[in-house]
Amino acid sequence: MIGNSTILCAVEVEPEFEEQLRAAGEVWTLDRGMPRTDVIEVARDADGILLTPGFRVDEELLNAWPSLRVVSSVSVGFDAFDVDLLTGRGVALCNTPGVLNAAVADLTVAMILMLSRRLMEFETYSRSGGWGRREPYPALAHDPAGHTLGIVGFGRIGREVTRRAQSLGMRTIWHDVFENAPTDAPTSAFRSLDDLLGESDFVSVHTDLNRTSRHLIGERELGLMKTSAYLINTARGGAVDQKALTRALESGVIAGAALDVLEAEPPDPNEPIVSLPNAIVFPHIGTATEETRKAMRGLAVDNLIAVLAGQEPASCVNPTVLDGRGS
Ligand code: DGY
Repeated sequence: MIGNSTILCAVEVEPEFEEQLRAAGEVWTLDRGMPRTDVIEVARDADGILLTPGFRVDEELLNAWPSLRVVSSVSVGFDAFDVDLLTGRGVALCNTPGVLNAAVADLTVAMILMLSRRLMEFETYSRSGGWGRREPYPALAHDPAGHTLGIVGFGRIGREVTRRAQSLGMRTIWHDVFENAPTDAPTSAFRSLDDLLGESDFVSVHTDLNRTSRHLIGERELGLMKTSAYLINTARGGAVDQKALTRALESGVIAGAALDVLEAEPPDPNEPIVSLPNAIVFPHIGTATEETRKAMRGLAVDNLIAVLAGQEPASCVNPTVLDGRGS
């Protein structure tokens, strides 16, 4: 199959990755502005596609592309894909775990420091001339050291955040659907979700988004947090009930939040949470470094080529399709 394959590239890749793809088959690069109907029409022979989660893969597309064997996403998250549909059609779905752990963990720790050290307030104070005008200083900040970080979702990224937080002198606890931490996990104590929420000064969400984690943090859960506590979400917006969080921030149920993800991305221009004084919102930049994005693209290209070559990719969400069990 490899060599005669038709590969669709909906992501711009580095020349070396393009070369790798060209060695594996004929490569069609999708023009960003191309209407979806045209994309579906021109790519009827596609065997594999390299894409990001914004590219919709649905029944209409799968019907039009009968030879499609692999969807390789430049993302760890795969909540945007209908895994059952792909599995039923025998199409492998590959993702890019591992290579982005450090980048997301770094951003999470940056958020902890922004919140605890009040970095936004101090920066605004000097930028707006308050320092020069000798205006009263914003309120003093807090050391993260000695405070408790509750990690919700003790997967690879949650564990990486735990390591970094411990190096800042923070106490860490965690919650997940499993209670026994993997053997390579940093030492940290398990808590029920309710206990973790009540005990933490910072709650950081690191779950993937699935049926059980949707709105995992809602009004009841926010009400269990300390009024001095902060919520951080660098995972998926859907894990937190955004309306409930907005109300909690407005009414002082919790002290503040730092979010890299929202329920709808990009948000509505009038989305209130973006401009709340006690919320810091970033436009989904957890993996947005040159190094990490390149590593993600490289892994996604390797995954795609492996499937087309009949080999096992490094990361496949529905591996049963690889040996024909899924379809
Ligand atoms: C991921 O890889 O899932 C990140 O959220 C970027 O989409």
